[in-house]
Amino acid sequence: MGKRIVVLGGDGVGPEVCDVASNILDKMKLGFEILKPPGGESAIEKHGTPLPDETKRLCEEVDAVLFGAAGSFSSPIINFLRWGLDNYVNIRPIKYYPGVTTPLKDAEGIDMVILRENSEGIYPPGREGDISQLAAKWPDWKDKLLGRRFQDYGNGKFAIRIITESGVGRMMKFACKFTRKRKEQGYPGKFTLSTKSNVLQESCGLVQRIAEAEIKHYPDLTYEHFYIDDMCRRIVRYPKDMDVIVTTNMFGDILSDEASELVGGLGMAPSACIGGKTPYFEPVHGSAPKYAKKNVINPTAMILSVKLMLDYLGIEKEGKNLETAVAEVYREGKVRTRDQGGQSTTKEFGDAVLRKLG
Ligand code: NAI
Ligand code: MG
Repeated sequence: MGKRIVVLGGDGVGPEVCDVASNILDKMKLGFEILKPPGGESAIEKHGTPLPDETKRLCEEVDAVLFGAAGSFSSPIINFLRWGLDNYVNIRPIKYYPGVTTPLKDAEGIDMVILRENSEGIYPPGREGDISQLAAKWPDWKDKLLGRRFQDYGNGKFAIRIITESGVGRMMKFACKFTRKRKEQGYPGKFTLSTKSNVLQESCGLVQRIAEAEIKHYPDLTYEHFYIDDMCRRIVRYPKDMDVIVTTNMFGDILSDEASELVGGLGMAPSACIGGKTPYFEPVHGSAPKYAKKNVINPTAMILSVKLMLDYLGIEKEGKNLETAVAEVYREGKVRTRDQGGQSTTKEFGDAVLRKLG
């Protein structure tokens, strides 16, 4: 099939989970070329940067990138993969596999996807500054409710949330098509938008208006909207009623960590970042520094991110085989990492998945 993949571990536990995932990918014998250019914490000493130019160039050339996590060192990698390559959709499946430890009495059947807009809003970092800058540039601006000017606030900071028609437009087009495609696969075809348009009437209001205009072209889908605070509650109260949840960048960030706990925690939550020049695939979790280099972290989120990559690359059968192998390990319950109440190591979990793959 001749696909070329770059693997970048990043920081903390990132390299460990990437090693497990790329070893599995290698052993699946799909004919992929797996490249491991210098990157992340380990590249800094030799190259003076977590993202050498040559690595950047390779990322732009290949079919996909697998990324571990950014902690204290690798944020330039995330900034490049996410914003530099313009991967504006973050697909975050939240799916329960029987045998996984969860705080819920009965989690079987939880199978939703959070679609997080990945390019706009209050992220990327750097959209902040000192209130005095705003006061100097915009002396006459007053907030609508209190009638205060920036210079009336005293010392402090601001953060800017940018929501554009084009940014929301492309996201909602993707989200509608995605929900329809899932419906064709047997899912309910439910598009649940979540915003805070009751308070953020301009920015979230725009998101809601654009989503509602787009969904009108999809009469076969069910549409509902909940404010983000209510959504956080609903996702716990009615997790099995969820199908596709669509939300903005920071809300999606927060909601997906919360949702991961329904299905066993951050060790279980994969993601795909697509729409840009080269797609990249990473777990929802970060660098979990206190577990770094201890061989104890759960690599499932990274392994399932490989599954998402295989689906994206059109190799769905192999993707399904990989998911089935992971599900079998959990169903059997013999190999469980610490977050799952077991004693198995990161590598042992990877080996168990490999054995199931045959
Ligand atoms: P985190 O996601 O790294 O870890 C939070 C906790 O979740 C851990 O202490 C651990 O108990 C659990 N956990 C995470 N991954 C796990 C796994 N694979 N198996 C078992 N348990 C797991 O979040 P935290 O501690 O808030 O952030 C640590 C660093 O990671 C920070 O520098 C943060 O900025 C960064 N970060 C990077 C992300 C990325 O690269 N996409 C995403 C989130 C955080
Ligand atoms: Mg996050």
